[in-house]
Order: sequence, then structure tokens, then C-alpha cells
Amino acid sequence: MLVWWWWRVAAAGTVLAGVLSQNVTLTSTSLVNQFLLSPLAVVRLENSNCDADLGRTGTCLTLFECYARGGVKTNLCGNGFGVCCLIVAKENGVSYGNNTLILKDKFDSGVDITYTIRRLMPSICQIRLDVRRLYLYRPENNGKCETDYMTINQDDKIGKICGLTENIHFYLDVTSEVVFTFHTSAGVSFTRDWEIYVQQLMCDFMSTNAPQGCGQWYWGTSGTIDIWNNVDPTTADWYYLNDQSYAICVRWEAGYCSISYTESLQFRPFCSDLFERPFTTTLLRTCDTSPPTSITPLTYTVTEGLQEFFVGFKDGSNLHQGSPGLPFQNPSIMYVQNQC
Ligand SMILES: *[C@@H]1O[C@H](CO)[C@@H](O)[C@H](O)[C@H]1NC(C)=O
Ligand SMILES: *[C@@H]1O[C@H](CO)[C@@H](O)[C@H](O)[C@H]1NC(C)=O
Repeated sequence: MLVWWWWRVAAAGTVLAGVLSQNVTLTSTSLVNQFLLSPLAVVRLENSNCDADLGRTGTCLTLFECYARGGVKTNLCGNGFGVCCLIVAKENGVSYGNNTLILKDKFDSGVDITYTIRRLMPSICQIRLDVRRLYLYRPENNGKCETDYMTINQDDKIGKICGLTENIHFYLDVTSEVVFTFHTSAGVSFTRDWEIYVQQLMCDFMSTNAPQGCGQWYWGTSGTIDIWNNVDPTTADWYYLNDQSYAICVRWEAGYCSISYTESLQFRPFCSDLFERPFTTTLLRTCDTSPPTSITPLTYTVTEGLQEFFVGFKDGSNLHQGSPGLPFQNPSIMYVQNQC
């Protein structure tokens, strides 16, 4: 009987291996799937991203794994051997899965919600957040989040987060399960909304985890650095957030000899907060003590060393506020790597 199963598994494996694309990795000797109706059926799909419905990103898993992790199947993926599994974190519950989605559609009321995400294995030492949208009420003039906020129980790179954020990523070191806490105040009418993916990363040389201390880690030959609360509400309400301490790191790509940076027109931090630019001592403390009246965009090229910015926004007593046209805005920094 056992021999017969081995034969059947081996034969099915040969057939399947022939039709699977490079994007599907078989890591188990006991193959086969629903379609052969075998009790030994396990196809290990390389847990790659896939397109779920509504423009969302899921993980390609077998149907069994998807259900085991409390996910919802959407489209087929992995040449039809997997389902694009969307694991939506449970409100006030515990979730277990990679690329878990913390999601709440538009609402306007006061809530207190936690989402707990358990690590897949003890060797998970970092998470990467991909924030598609985080719409919370704005910070106070001093950059503190008092009406609405999100906090995370791991790492101390960021304190309370609020305001309007779109399309940024962020890395946090983790040592146990991760608890996200959201608070919104009933007293303020505002449309809140969030969609945040949480990737679990192992700390090994194979992984894509960020170097120690880097809250953000950019790679590729060009890009735009954007931090929390990066959406301009076109009022005077655009402030950088208080209680932040991390590095923004840009990987220096092979074959490129320098990186040119261009900062957004309005960015200039208040002088009691720290914003260090990489190896550009003359620009290190380019800051203001009252809202800037006229500034030109800073551009500079850094030719050697670590490409790291340091964000140390720790002075919650100063005004992080300006006025329309004269704000202490968030940085938005474009970079391009220059070939040797
Ligand atoms: C494999 O994945 C890449 C990127 O996700 C995609 O561009 C490519 O078409 C895929 N190949 C196959 C054979 O599905
Ligand atoms: C989680 O998914 C990401 C990509 O979506 C991948 O790089 C990472 O290795 C996965 N983590 C684990 C533990 O499989």
C-alpha cells in the first residue's frame, strides 16, 4: 500500500513538475492537489504575492493552507494550483499569516480596535508594513496625535501615528506577537479608513529585511522617500508627526557611484527637531525656527558612504505647523542613482 502511494506520488510529481512555471516551487516530496484527490495532497506554492479582488494583494497558497490560516480565497494563482488567499486581520482578534491585511472601510465614529498578528515562527524578527491608506484625524499643531491614532506594541521607532498617509512602507523589529491599536474619537467627525499589509520577515541573509535601525529601506535606482502623514490636505493642517526616531536608508546599487536627492519645495524641519541628511554636513541642520517664508528646494549629490537620513522628531513642544504656503511640511525626497 505504502509502495503504491509512493509510486502514485512520484508519477504525479513528474507530471505536475512539467507544467508548473518557475513561479511555483515544489518543496515537498508528497505532491499532488485537489485535482488528483489524494489524501497526501500537498503542493507547496512559493508564497508569492497575487492579485486578489478589488485591487488587493493576497498570498498564493493551497486552498487548505488558506483556510488553515483563516484566509478567504479569491482568484486562482500559481497556474491554477493555488488560490490567491486574502488574510484579513480580525478586529479585536488574533491572526496568523503572512501579508495579513489590516482593513477597515470608510467610517465616521469613535472606536477602539486592536489587531493581533502572531508570528509564523520564532525566527520572524521584523515586519514590513505596506500602508496603502491610513486616514486618521490630523495631529495637533505640535505634531502630537491626540484625537485619533494608531500605535504598535513593538520597537520604538514611532510613537502615535495619525493624519493622512498613503503608499509608504515601514519596518519594525519584533520579538513577540504584534498588536496594532487604533483609536478614533467620537467627538470629531471625520472619515477614517485603513488598508495596511503586514509582511513577516526572517532575519537571515536570504531575506529582504531592512538593516538594523532603518524604519524605511529603499532600493532600486530611483524612487521617492515619503514618510507618515504624507498627504497634503490642502489646508494648513499638514504637519510632520512628533515622536519619531529612525533612519531612512537607501541601498547603494552596484554599478552606481553617487545618489542625487531633490527635496520637496516646502520641506524644512523646525530646528529643535533633527533631520540629518547623509554625509552632507553643510545641509545637516538646514532648518527654521519660524515657518519658512521662502525656500528653494534642496538638491544634493552624495558620493560615498551610507545613504542614511536620520529622523529625530522628538520636540513635542514646538509648532510643527505652518500656514498654507508656509508649512513645516513632511519631506518628500526624490532620488536618482548615477552610473559610474
Ligand atoms: C512569474 O511572475 C512574474 C512577476 O510576478 C511575472 O511577470 C511572470 O509573468 C510570471 N511567470 C509566469 C510563467 O507565470
Ligand atoms: C512573507 O512574504 C514576503 C513577500 O510577500 C516574503 O518575502 C517573506 O519571505 C514571507 N515570509 C515568510 C516567513 O515566509
